[in-house]
Amino acid sequence: MRGMMLAGGAGTRLFPLSQVSSKQLQAVYDKPMIYYPLATLMTAGIREIHLISSPADLPIFERVLGDGQQWGISLSYSVQPNPGGIAEAVLIGEEFVGDQPFSLILGDNIFHGPIGLDIEVAGFVSGAVIWGYPVEDPQRYGVVEIDSSGSVLSIEEKPNNPRSDLAVPGLYVYDDTAVSRAKELAPSDRGELEITDLNMSFLVDGELRAASLGRDTTWLDSGTHESLLESSNFVASVEKENGYKVACLEEVAFKMGFVSDKEVARTIDSMPLSPYRTYCERAIGG
Ligand code: TTP
Repeated sequence: MRGMMLAGGAGTRLFPLSQVSSKQLQAVYDKPMIYYPLATLMTAGIREIHLISSPADLPIFERVLGDGQQWGISLSYSVQPNPGGIAEAVLIGEEFVGDQPFSLILGDNIFHGPIGLDIEVAGFVSGAVIWGYPVEDPQRYGVVEIDSSGSVLSIEEKPNNPRSDLAVPGLYVYDDTAVSRAKELAPSDRGELEITDLNMSFLVDGELRAASLGRDTTWLDSGTHESLLESSNFVASVEKENGYKVACLEEVAFKMGFVSDKEVARTIDSMPLSPYRTYCERAIGG
């Protein structure tokens, strides 16, 4: 399965920080935000990944992440000229997707704990998969209603009267029909191709499944100053309590078998002396 990361958008809510860099390159404790969703895809076994961002920010992502070879993955890039909506990514990534299923993750979504993406990657056949995460304020999100067997009954975008407390996080798995479905979508009132409409297209054909995220999983969306701080505090506290780093890409690549011990050692050797480098050396047993 291939992976797509969406890292464009206006980042309006993070102004004036968004003047300095794109939202997904801001620090979440000790790493750029984009490391976390990238680690989510990699730990699920996804190695061919396409990143989409704005014309101004894309060169910075290319500089920071490169071609992915250092992590044993292949990274490619495309521009989204304007923030035309999350579902627009599917159209931009058409060539990359080809006839393959793919997982789309938003660059400001942080997952910690088991989410089952690895199971989808291993066993996915067709249709679409979304996740549901219990929140106190579902009105702010896309909301999914699931019956006891896990079938999706409804999805609604920012409903006034939500039918469940399950928000839909920024992680989706689609078969290749997502491209032709996205082509049929009309822009919403806010002028965007909405991901909820794409999911709805799978739902009406009986092709949408949803998995519910349990208590041992944390989902953070880092789009506001408050949630950005919360994400940093969360990562800092997990790392301090457990003595390991969250989303250390060199460690993930090594543990997933994407790179050999010699290859990861070479990458670590090229890092400046820093606590991150010291951690990497320890994590790979060097
Ligand atoms: P949002 O947080 O909904 O939008 P935003 O990033 O533009 O921020 P703000 O609302 O503060 O202006 O976007 C969710 C994610 O999707 C985020 O990682 C950015 C990404 N995105 C794109 O890459 N392109 C788009 O056209 C949109 C709408 C979002």
